[in-house]
Amino acid sequence: MAILITGGAGYIGTHAMVEFLEAGREVICVDNYSNSKPCALERVKKITGKNFKSYEVDLLDYDALEQVFKENKIDSCIHFAGLKAVGESCQKPLLYYHNNLTGTFNLCSLLSKYGAKKIVFSSSATVYGKPASVPITEDFPLSTTNPYGETKLMIERILKDIYASDSEWSVSILRYFNPIGAHKSGLIGEDPKGIPNNLLPYIAQVATGKRECLSIFGSDYNTHDGTGVRDYIHVVDLAKAHLKAIERAEKVTGVEYFNIGTGVGYSVLDIVKAYESATGAKVNYKIVDRRPGDIDECYANPEKAYNVLGWKAEYGIEDMCRDSYRWQTNNPDGYGEG
Ligand code: NAD
Ligand code: WQD
Repeated sequence: MAILITGGAGYIGTHAMVEFLEAGREVICVDNYSNSKPCALERVKKITGKNFKSYEVDLLDYDALEQVFKENKIDSCIHFAGLKAVGESCQKPLLYYHNNLTGTFNLCSLLSKYGAKKIVFSSSATVYGKPASVPITEDFPLSTTNPYGETKLMIERILKDIYASDSEWSVSILRYFNPIGAHKSGLIGEDPKGIPNNLLPYIAQVATGKRECLSIFGSDYNTHDGTGVRDYIHVVDLAKAHLKAIERAEKVTGVEYFNIGTGVGYSVLDIVKAYESATGAKVNYKIVDRRPGDIDECYANPEKAYNVLGWKAEYGIEDMCRDSYRWQTNNPDGYGEG
């Protein structure tokens, strides 16, 4: 029985594919390559020495997606596919609502129709909005500040309603904090289009000389050094959480929510220093105005994931920086023409 991996060619998806294949699981990838390239899957094959099926299918195309279910025995799904850029979601809300929600409707209808009622969903710490305190536990109030976050929260609620209507479902909602780093092979990693929105890809490009200077967005936050604090988690640790989540979904039904973070908060300046010390490279920076919508601090209490899934993060910030740098150095243009 195969596990369907939607968005498997993306940043987190490729790392999860590696972990699943190395654990001996059968996986099938569907991706429309709107934010990824097919060659990323070739790299997954190279790392693992294993083959798997992949389909260029848009989740918005119900008939094409159904064909994947007809051709394979699918038992469960890891649902990564979605658009994820916060700023773009404010410019193009309809695109985000349509892609993320309609894609999930089609997927869930087919998972139900073909009796594969187990799903692990990529949610985000963004559903905690501006948390009243840190660390954040799963029972904190939920709210969002942008259309991207809204799609995550809506999908969480839709999945809860699906289970309420049919108790055969297993729904595991993983709320990721800030995934960074790359596989130690240096073959797969994050490949942002154009100017990176997120901190680590930007730092990696400054450290390797592709960009001149990091702009640090604000130094007057209520944190130990005034710059924003986040819970950065190695993408390989994050990938492993999915394996634990699917193993549990194979045993129990219900809806469960898990914070997937390290429980440790680092400021932007902490990260700049850690990057320099882990890699020996220089990260030039300047302080600029705050980025609208950013919050002071966000980090997880990840105890539930440990207690229920038996998962905890193993890698530290040095590993994350070193692996990010290796990926960026080996692949200055990401996957290139792919
Ligand atoms: P990514 O963009 O690298 O991967 C998403 C993949 O989904 C891409 O390969 C893209 O081509 C594919 N996709 C998008 N829409 C599709 C559609 N309609 N049909 C088929 N494929 C489609 O992003 P990522 O960083 O790997 O994130 C994976 C998931 O995790 C996303 O749902 C994202 O919202 C969520 N998430 C990411 C982060 C993060 O910081 N990276 C944090 C929290 C949650
Ligand atoms: C981290 C810190 C910035 C870039 C986003 C999404 C969230 C989730 C993860 C998907 C902040 C600062 C950044 C730069 C900077 N994604 N920064 N200069 O904003 O915590 O989370 O990605 O679900 O939903 O909002 O991550 O990496 O953009 O920022 O100073 O050039 O780095 O202000 O303090 P963020 P990020």
